Amino acid sequence: EKGNYRHFMQKEIFEQPTVVAQTLRSYVHQANNSVALPQIDFDLSTVKRITIVACGTSFYAAMVAKYWFETFARVPVDIDVASEFRYRQPVLEDGGLALFISQSGETADTLAALRHCKAEGQTIGVVVNVPTSSMAREADLLLPTHAGPEIGVASTKAFTCQLAVLAALAAHLAVKKGRMDRAEEEEVVRHLLEAPAALNAALDHDEDIAAMAHLIAPARDVLYLGRGPDYPLALEGALKLKEISYIHAEGYASGEMKHGPIALIDEAVPVIVLAPSGPLFEKTVSNMQEVRARGGQVVLISDAEGLREAGEGCIATIEMPRVHPLIAPLVYAVPVQLLAYHTACVKGTDVDQPRNLAKSVTVE
Ligand code: M6R
Repeated sequence: EKGNYRHFMQKEIFEQPTVVAQTLRSYVHQANNSVALPQIDFDLSTVKRITIVACGTSFYAAMVAKYWFETFARVPVDIDVASEFRYRQPVLEDGGLALFISQSGETADTLAALRHCKAEGQTIGVVVNVPTSSMAREADLLLPTHAGPEIGVASTKAFTCQLAVLAALAAHLAVKKGRMDRAEEEEVVRHLLEAPAALNAALDHDEDIAAMAHLIAPARDVLYLGRGPDYPLALEGALKLKEISYIHAEGYASGEMKHGPIALIDEAVPVIVLAPSGPLFEKTVSNMQEVRARGGQVVLISDAEGLREAGEGCIATIEMPRVHPLIAPLVYAVPVQLLAYHTACVKGTDVDQPRNLAKSVTVE
Protein backbone atom coordinates (compact mmCIF):
# COMPACT_ATOMS: atom_id res chain seq x y z
CA GLU A 1 0.00 0.00 0.00
CA LYS A 2 2.98 2.28 0.49
CA GLY A 3 4.00 1.76 -3.13
CA ASN A 4 7.53 3.00 -3.67
CA TYR A 5 7.56 4.98 -0.46
CA ARG A 6 9.31 4.02 2.75
CA HIS A 7 6.58 5.33 5.01
CA PHE A 8 2.93 6.29 4.82
CA MET A 9 3.82 9.77 5.98
CA GLN A 10 6.18 10.20 3.05
CA LYS A 11 3.56 8.90 0.62
CA GLU A 12 0.95 11.22 2.08
CA ILE A 13 3.25 14.25 1.82
CA PHE A 14 3.80 13.48 -1.85
CA GLU A 15 0.09 12.98 -2.50
CA GLN A 16 -0.65 16.58 -1.62
CA PRO A 17 -0.68 18.10 -5.11
CA THR A 18 -3.20 15.46 -6.18
CA VAL A 19 -5.47 15.53 -3.15
CA VAL A 20 -5.49 19.31 -2.85
CA ALA A 21 -6.50 19.49 -6.54
CA GLN A 22 -9.15 16.85 -5.87
CA THR A 23 -10.47 18.80 -2.89
CA LEU A 24 -10.50 22.09 -4.78
CA ARG A 25 -12.50 20.49 -7.59
CA SER A 26 -15.50 20.23 -5.31
CA TYR A 27 -15.19 23.79 -3.96
CA VAL A 28 -14.53 25.84 -7.09
CA HIS A 29 -15.93 26.05 -10.61
CA GLN A 30 -12.91 26.09 -12.84
CA ALA A 31 -14.93 27.19 -15.86
CA ASN A 32 -15.67 30.63 -14.44
CA ASN A 33 -13.28 30.80 -11.47
CA SER A 34 -16.01 30.99 -8.86
CA VAL A 35 -16.38 29.37 -5.46
CA ALA A 36 -18.94 26.58 -5.19
CA LEU A 37 -19.91 25.19 -1.83
CA PRO A 38 -22.06 22.11 -1.25
CA GLN A 39 -25.79 22.93 -1.31
CA ILE A 40 -26.96 24.02 2.11
CA ASP A 41 -30.26 25.28 3.39
CA PHE A 42 -28.68 27.95 5.51
CA ASP A 43 -28.07 31.57 4.61
CA LEU A 44 -24.38 32.27 5.18
CA SER A 45 -24.90 36.01 4.66
CA THR A 46 -26.48 36.16 8.11
CA VAL A 47 -23.38 34.85 9.92
CA LYS A 48 -22.19 37.44 12.42
CA ARG A 49 -19.48 35.53 14.23
CA ILE A 50 -17.57 32.33 13.67
CA THR A 51 -16.19 30.08 16.40
CA ILE A 52 -13.63 27.55 15.25
CA VAL A 53 -12.64 24.63 17.45
CA ALA A 54 -10.11 21.87 16.76
CA CYS A 55 -7.05 20.07 18.15
CA GLY A 56 -3.43 19.71 17.08
CA THR A 57 -2.67 20.24 13.42
CA SER A 58 -6.35 20.84 12.68
CA PHE A 59 -6.22 23.72 15.16
CA TYR A 60 -3.35 25.25 13.19
CA ALA A 61 -5.58 25.13 10.11
CA ALA A 62 -8.12 27.07 12.19
CA MET A 63 -5.48 29.68 13.03
CA VAL A 64 -4.73 30.21 9.35
CA ALA A 65 -8.43 30.35 8.53
CA LYS A 66 -8.99 33.13 11.06
CA TYR A 67 -6.80 35.42 8.95
CA TRP A 68 -8.78 34.57 5.84
CA PHE A 69 -12.26 34.93 7.36
CA GLU A 70 -11.35 38.25 8.89
CA THR A 71 -9.53 39.61 5.84
CA PHE A 72 -12.01 38.50 3.19
CA ALA A 73 -15.36 38.46 4.94
CA ARG A 74 -14.66 40.89 7.82
CA VAL A 75 -16.43 38.47 10.16
CA PRO A 76 -15.06 38.20 13.70
CA VAL A 77 -13.59 34.81 14.45
CA ASP A 78 -12.85 33.11 17.77
CA ILE A 79 -10.62 30.08 17.76
CA ASP A 80 -9.80 27.66 20.51
CA VAL A 81 -8.38 24.22 21.11
CA ALA A 82 -11.25 21.89 21.95
CA SER A 83 -9.96 20.83 25.38
CA GLU A 84 -9.97 24.48 26.51
CA PHE A 85 -13.16 25.51 24.76
CA ARG A 86 -15.15 22.77 26.47
CA TYR A 87 -14.34 23.86 29.98
CA ARG A 88 -14.56 27.60 29.75
CA GLN A 89 -17.88 29.33 29.42
CA PRO A 90 -17.72 30.45 25.78
CA VAL A 91 -20.09 33.26 24.87
CA LEU A 92 -21.91 32.19 21.74
CA GLU A 93 -23.98 34.77 19.90
CA ASP A 94 -27.29 33.93 18.26
CA GLY A 95 -26.86 33.35 14.57
CA GLY A 96 -23.30 32.17 15.00
CA LEU A 97 -21.54 29.57 12.94
CA ALA A 98 -19.46 27.07 14.91
CA LEU A 99 -16.88 25.33 12.78
CA PHE A 100 -15.08 22.13 13.74
CA ILE A 101 -12.01 20.93 11.91
CA SER A 102 -10.91 17.33 12.20
CA GLN A 103 -9.19 14.79 10.02
CA SER A 104 -10.78 11.83 11.78
CA GLY A 105 -14.09 13.41 12.73
CA GLU A 106 -13.84 11.43 15.99
CA THR A 107 -11.55 13.46 18.26
CA ALA A 108 -13.29 13.29 21.64
CA ASP A 109 -12.74 16.89 22.76
CA THR A 110 -13.72 18.35 19.39
CA LEU A 111 -16.85 16.21 19.25
CA ALA A 112 -17.85 17.25 22.76
CA ALA A 113 -17.35 20.92 21.80
CA LEU A 114 -19.52 20.36 18.73
CA ARG A 115 -22.32 18.90 20.83
CA HIS A 116 -22.08 21.79 23.25
CA CYS A 117 -22.43 24.33 20.42
CA LYS A 118 -25.31 22.39 18.93
CA ALA A 119 -27.15 22.46 22.23
CA GLU A 120 -26.54 26.23 22.31
CA GLY A 121 -28.25 26.64 18.94
CA GLN A 122 -25.19 27.39 16.81
CA THR A 123 -25.15 26.30 13.20
CA ILE A 124 -22.62 23.47 13.03
CA GLY A 125 -20.14 23.35 10.18
CA VAL A 126 -17.52 20.61 9.99
CA VAL A 127 -14.41 20.21 7.89
CA VAL A 128 -13.66 16.48 8.09
CA ASN A 129 -11.70 13.95 6.11
CA VAL A 130 -13.67 10.86 7.15
CA PRO A 131 -17.13 11.30 5.61
CA THR A 132 -18.72 8.59 7.75
CA SER A 133 -17.43 10.02 11.03
CA SER A 134 -19.48 11.18 14.03
CA MET A 135 -18.76 14.84 13.28
CA ALA A 136 -19.84 14.44 9.66
CA ARG A 137 -23.12 12.91 10.81
CA GLU A 138 -23.87 15.63 13.31
CA ALA A 139 -23.12 18.59 11.04
CA ASP A 140 -25.56 21.07 9.53
CA LEU A 141 -22.95 22.08 6.99
CA LEU A 142 -20.63 19.27 5.90
CA LEU A 143 -17.43 20.38 4.19
CA PRO A 144 -15.45 17.25 3.39
CA THR A 145 -11.76 17.27 2.59
CA HIS A 146 -10.91 14.77 -0.12
CA ALA A 147 -7.47 13.79 1.11
CA GLY A 148 -8.21 10.04 1.11
CA PRO A 149 -7.29 7.85 4.10
CA GLU A 150 -4.46 9.30 6.17
CA ILE A 151 -2.51 6.51 7.86
CA GLY A 152 0.59 8.23 9.25
CA VAL A 153 -0.02 9.48 12.79
CA ALA A 154 1.50 12.83 11.83
CA SER A 155 -1.14 14.69 9.86
CA THR A 156 0.06 16.05 6.52
CA LYS A 157 -2.24 15.88 3.52
CA ALA A 158 -5.36 16.34 5.65
CA PHE A 159 -3.94 19.70 6.78
CA THR A 160 -3.34 21.15 3.31
CA CYS A 161 -6.77 19.94 2.20
CA GLN A 162 -8.34 21.59 5.25
CA LEU A 163 -6.64 24.82 4.23
CA ALA A 164 -7.99 24.51 0.68
CA VAL A 165 -11.55 24.06 1.97
CA LEU A 166 -11.25 26.89 4.49
CA ALA A 167 -9.90 29.33 1.90
CA ALA A 168 -12.83 28.51 -0.39
CA LEU A 169 -15.26 28.88 2.50
CA ALA A 170 -13.79 32.26 3.49
CA ALA A 171 -14.13 33.50 -0.09
CA HIS A 172 -17.67 32.15 -0.32
CA LEU A 173 -18.65 33.87 2.90
CA ALA A 174 -17.11 37.11 1.65
CA VAL A 175 -19.15 36.89 -1.56
CA LYS A 176 -22.35 36.17 0.40
CA LYS A 177 -21.70 39.11 2.67
CA GLY A 178 -21.05 41.44 -0.25
CA ARG A 179 -17.43 41.91 0.77
CA MET A 180 -15.92 40.37 -2.34
CA ASP A 181 -16.85 41.26 -5.91
CA ARG A 182 -16.66 38.94 -8.90
CA ALA A 183 -13.22 40.12 -9.97
CA GLU A 184 -11.81 39.50 -6.48
CA GLU A 185 -13.49 36.11 -6.28
CA GLU A 186 -11.98 35.13 -9.63
CA GLU A 187 -8.58 36.20 -8.43
CA VAL A 188 -8.82 34.20 -5.21
CA VAL A 189 -9.92 31.12 -7.11
CA ARG A 190 -7.11 31.55 -9.62
CA HIS A 191 -4.58 31.64 -6.79
CA LEU A 192 -6.12 28.59 -5.12
CA LEU A 193 -5.92 26.68 -8.37
CA GLU A 194 -2.21 27.47 -8.51
CA ALA A 195 -1.69 25.52 -5.28
CA PRO A 196 -1.26 21.99 -6.72
CA ALA A 197 1.53 23.07 -9.10
CA ALA A 198 3.17 25.09 -6.33
CA LEU A 199 3.01 22.07 -4.01
CA ASN A 200 4.75 20.03 -6.69
CA ALA A 201 7.44 22.67 -7.03
CA ALA A 202 7.92 22.61 -3.24
CA LEU A 203 8.22 18.80 -3.29
CA ASP A 204 11.01 19.10 -5.86
CA HIS A 205 13.24 20.24 -2.98
CA ASP A 206 12.90 16.93 -1.16
CA GLU A 207 16.56 16.01 -1.61
CA ASP A 208 17.88 19.37 -0.38
CA ILE A 209 15.68 19.02 2.67
CA ALA A 210 16.85 15.45 3.26
CA ALA A 211 20.43 16.75 3.25
CA MET A 212 19.53 19.52 5.66
CA ALA A 213 17.96 17.06 8.08
CA HIS A 214 21.51 16.09 9.07
CA LEU A 215 21.94 19.62 10.45
CA ILE A 216 18.74 19.42 12.47
CA ALA A 217 18.99 15.85 13.77
CA PRO A 218 21.74 16.51 16.37
CA ALA A 219 19.88 19.51 17.87
CA ARG A 220 18.25 19.28 21.27
CA ASP A 221 16.01 22.28 20.67
CA VAL A 222 14.74 23.95 17.52
CA LEU A 223 12.82 27.18 17.07
CA TYR A 224 10.43 27.89 14.21
CA LEU A 225 9.43 31.47 13.39
CA GLY A 226 6.70 32.84 11.15
CA ARG A 227 4.37 35.80 10.89
CA GLY A 228 0.73 36.31 9.99
CA PRO A 229 -0.81 33.28 8.29
CA ASP A 230 2.63 31.65 8.33
CA TYR A 231 2.87 31.83 12.12
CA PRO A 232 0.59 28.77 12.47
CA LEU A 233 2.96 27.02 10.04
CA ALA A 234 5.78 27.67 12.50
CA LEU A 235 3.67 25.96 15.16
CA GLU A 236 2.91 23.13 12.77
CA GLY A 237 6.60 22.71 11.92
CA ALA A 238 7.46 22.50 15.61
CA LEU A 239 4.67 20.00 16.29
CA LYS A 240 5.80 17.76 13.42
CA LEU A 241 9.39 17.76 14.69
CA LYS A 242 8.30 16.94 18.23
CA GLU A 243 5.94 14.18 17.16
CA ILE A 244 8.17 12.13 14.93
CA SER A 245 11.78 13.11 15.62
CA TYR A 246 11.35 13.70 19.37
CA ILE A 247 13.31 16.94 19.16
CA HIS A 248 12.05 19.67 21.42
CA ALA A 249 10.77 22.40 19.12
CA GLU A 250 8.79 25.59 19.62
CA GLY A 251 6.98 27.75 17.12
CA TYR A 252 6.81 31.48 17.73
CA ALA A 253 5.29 34.49 16.07
CA SER A 254 8.52 36.09 14.88
CA GLY A 255 7.65 39.42 16.51
CA GLU A 256 7.44 37.68 19.89
CA MET A 257 11.11 36.67 19.89
CA LYS A 258 12.30 39.78 21.63
CA HIS A 259 9.70 39.29 24.35
CA GLY A 260 11.50 36.31 25.77
CA PRO A 261 12.55 33.42 23.57
CA ILE A 262 15.51 35.29 22.11
CA ALA A 263 17.21 34.52 25.42
CA LEU A 264 17.48 30.91 24.22
CA ILE A 265 19.51 31.76 21.15
CA ASP A 266 22.97 30.24 20.85
CA GLU A 267 24.87 28.22 18.24
CA ALA A 268 23.25 25.00 19.37
CA VAL A 269 19.65 26.03 18.60
CA PRO A 270 18.73 26.03 14.90
CA VAL A 271 16.14 28.70 14.14
CA ILE A 272 14.01 27.93 11.12
CA VAL A 273 12.40 31.02 9.61
CA LEU A 274 9.38 30.84 7.29
CA ALA A 275 9.39 34.03 5.24
CA PRO A 276 7.62 33.99 1.90
CA SER A 277 7.84 37.16 -0.18
CA GLY A 278 4.85 39.33 0.57
CA PRO A 279 3.66 42.10 2.82
CA LEU A 280 5.19 40.62 5.98
CA PHE A 281 8.55 39.61 4.53
CA GLU A 282 10.61 42.60 5.72
CA LYS A 283 9.20 42.34 9.24
CA THR A 284 10.04 38.65 9.54
CA VAL A 285 13.51 39.23 8.14
CA SER A 286 14.22 41.96 10.65
CA ASN A 287 13.32 39.53 13.46
CA MET A 288 15.60 37.00 11.81
CA GLN A 289 18.47 39.50 11.78
CA GLU A 290 17.99 40.02 15.52
CA VAL A 291 18.45 36.29 15.97
CA ARG A 292 21.53 36.25 13.75
CA ALA A 293 23.07 39.17 15.59
CA ARG A 294 23.02 36.99 18.72
CA GLY A 295 24.84 34.11 17.10
CA GLY A 296 21.66 32.27 16.07
CA GLN A 297 21.99 29.58 13.40
CA VAL A 298 19.26 30.43 10.93
CA VAL A 299 17.69 28.22 8.29
CA LEU A 300 15.68 30.45 5.96
CA ILE A 301 12.76 29.06 3.97
CA SER A 302 11.69 31.54 1.32
CA ASP A 303 11.39 31.98 -2.46
CA ALA A 304 14.28 32.87 -4.75
CA GLU A 305 13.71 36.59 -4.31
CA GLY A 306 13.53 36.32 -0.52
CA LEU A 307 16.66 34.17 -0.38
CA ARG A 308 18.54 36.64 -2.57
CA GLU A 309 17.58 39.44 -0.27
CA ALA A 310 18.10 37.77 3.09
CA GLY A 311 19.71 34.35 2.62
CA GLU A 312 23.30 35.42 3.18
CA GLY A 313 24.78 34.30 6.48
CA CYS A 314 22.18 31.58 7.05
CA ILE A 315 23.48 28.08 7.80
CA ALA A 316 21.10 26.74 5.17
CA THR A 317 18.26 27.85 2.95
CA ILE A 318 15.33 26.08 1.33
CA GLU A 319 13.90 27.57 -1.82
CA MET A 320 10.15 27.55 -2.31
CA PRO A 321 8.30 28.64 -5.43
CA ARG A 322 7.17 32.26 -5.45
CA VAL A 323 3.47 32.15 -4.61
CA HIS A 324 0.64 34.50 -3.74
CA PRO A 325 0.44 35.02 0.07
CA LEU A 326 -2.98 33.30 0.09
CA ILE A 327 -1.50 29.92 -0.78
CA ALA A 328 1.81 30.33 1.05
CA PRO A 329 0.53 28.41 4.13
CA LEU A 330 -0.27 25.40 1.92
CA VAL A 331 3.06 25.51 0.11
CA TYR A 332 5.18 26.11 3.23
CA ALA A 333 3.56 23.11 4.89
CA VAL A 334 5.65 20.94 2.55
CA PRO A 335 9.16 21.90 3.76
CA VAL A 336 8.16 21.71 7.43
CA GLN A 337 6.66 18.26 6.89
CA LEU A 338 9.67 17.04 4.90
CA LEU A 339 12.14 18.44 7.37
CA ALA A 340 10.44 16.60 10.24
CA TYR A 341 10.17 13.48 8.12
CA HIS A 342 13.82 13.36 7.06
CA THR A 343 15.05 14.32 10.53
CA ALA A 344 13.08 11.39 11.96
CA CYS A 345 14.61 9.11 9.30
CA VAL A 346 18.12 10.28 10.25
CA LYS A 347 17.31 9.54 13.87
CA GLY A 348 15.76 6.20 13.01
CA THR A 349 12.49 6.74 14.84
CA ASP A 350 9.21 5.04 13.96
CA VAL A 351 7.83 7.66 11.59
CA ASP A 352 4.34 6.27 11.06
CA GLN A 353 3.76 5.09 14.64
CA PRO A 354 5.56 7.55 16.91
CA ARG A 355 5.75 6.60 20.55
CA ASN A 356 2.88 7.53 22.87
CA LEU A 357 0.63 8.78 20.04
CA ALA A 358 -2.59 7.51 18.51
CA LYS A 359 -3.95 8.47 15.11
CA SER A 360 -7.30 9.35 16.50
CA VAL A 361 -7.67 10.66 20.06
CA THR A 362 -11.07 9.32 21.00
CA VAL A 363 -10.62 9.67 24.76
CA GLU A 364 -10.43 12.91 26.63
O1 M6R B 1 -8.45 13.89 13.68
P1 M6R B 1 -8.18 15.28 14.17
O2 M6R B 1 -7.84 16.23 13.08
O3 M6R B 1 -9.32 15.81 15.00
O4 M6R B 1 -6.92 15.15 15.10
C1 M6R B 1 -6.43 16.26 15.81
C2 M6R B 1 -5.06 16.00 16.38
O5 M6R B 1 -5.08 14.89 17.24
C3 M6R B 1 -4.03 15.75 15.27
O6 M6R B 1 -3.95 16.82 14.37
C4 M6R B 1 -2.62 15.53 15.89
O7 M6R B 1 -2.15 16.72 16.45
C5 M6R B 1 -1.68 15.00 14.81
N1 M6R B 1 -0.94 13.89 15.32
C6 M6R B 1 -0.76 16.06 14.28
O8 M6R B 1 0.19 15.56 13.39
